[in-house]
Amino acid sequence: MSRRGVEGAVALVTGANRGIGAAFVDALLAAGVLRVHAGARDPDTLAGLLERHGGRVVAHRLDVTRTADVAAVAAAAADTTVLVNNAGVFRNQRLFDTSDPEAAREEMEVNYFGVLAMCRAFSPILADNGGGAIVNVLSAAALANVPVMGGYSPSKAAARSLTAALRAELGHLGITAHALIVGSVDTRMAAHVRGDKADPADIARAGIAAIRHDLPEVDTDPMAVAVRAAIARDPREFERQMTAMLSSPTLHTGRG
Ligand SMILES: NC(=O)c1ccc[n+]([C@@H]2O[C@H](COP(=O)([O-])OP(=O)(O)OC[C@H]3O[C@@H](n4cnc5c(N)ncnc54)[C@H](OP(=O)(O)O)[C@@H]3O)[C@@H](O)[C@H]2O)c1
Repeated sequence: MSRRGVEGAVALVTGANRGIGAAFVDALLAAGVLRVHAGARDPDTLAGLLERHGGRVVAHRLDVTRTADVAAVAAAAADTTVLVNNAGVFRNQRLFDTSDPEAAREEMEVNYFGVLAMCRAFSPILADNGGGAIVNVLSAAALANVPVMGGYSPSKAAARSLTAALRAELGHLGITAHALIVGSVDTRMAAHVRGDKADPADIARAGIAAIRHDLPEVDTDPMAVAVRAAIARDPREFERQMTAMLSSPTLHTGRG
């Protein structure tokens, strides 16, 4: 049977050391989660969270592309009932006219295969614990192949499809799956983006609401809502506007 809600749950957050991941740790604990397993490529970067929350946060070394890390965390965090796949990479490269063709592979390795590896490792754990929830932090880039988002759009679209597969294959085990469609958020990844950006805490709260109300997919912020509406209105015009906006000389570029 699925355990709706987060009160009394034990959560695991990937990429917990900064940005939306760190906000998830704070929000989950504020919402009544007992303990959060916080994954980071460099556990030393979790010092601030450990200081803030004491023994309620457990630090783990976790690069989601490393099979040994994923296996070790699954063994150490077998009490998990809520998995938040937040870790992600945005290489800000074009798919075709690019000086770094390997960027698309890295985005797929982290944003899709990393999520897949975590879901494969933790779905039996959630099932053994009586059910649970998997939240995948995706992007508005998953809804359409946003021009100049190179390999990032395909990687997030693949993870969106994976989220539906989780529901189809694991729903009978009491596991719910939730896709967060994120627009623009004030983190290092979006440092090069101008305009209004949501607070990472808003995205975490939207994720918790998705679990509580068993929502399969949630647009987490005004940009995500606007993107979905624009695609529905006129997909070709949406692509034209995105290309113009993201190619603007006022927009800084750099690795996200
Ligand atoms: N910010 C936005 O506007 C926006 C929009 C749409 C979607 N998103 C999504 O939101 C999620 C969080 O991003 P953010 O905005 O918080 O960006 P961020 O501040 O750049 O954080 C990215 C996090 O992912 C971690 N990470 C990267 N590769 C990893 C790997 N192989 N294994 C484990 N962790 C890894 C980073 O760890 P290190 O510190 O070690 O690099 C960092 O903790 C991502 O999935 C991103 O695609 C963000």
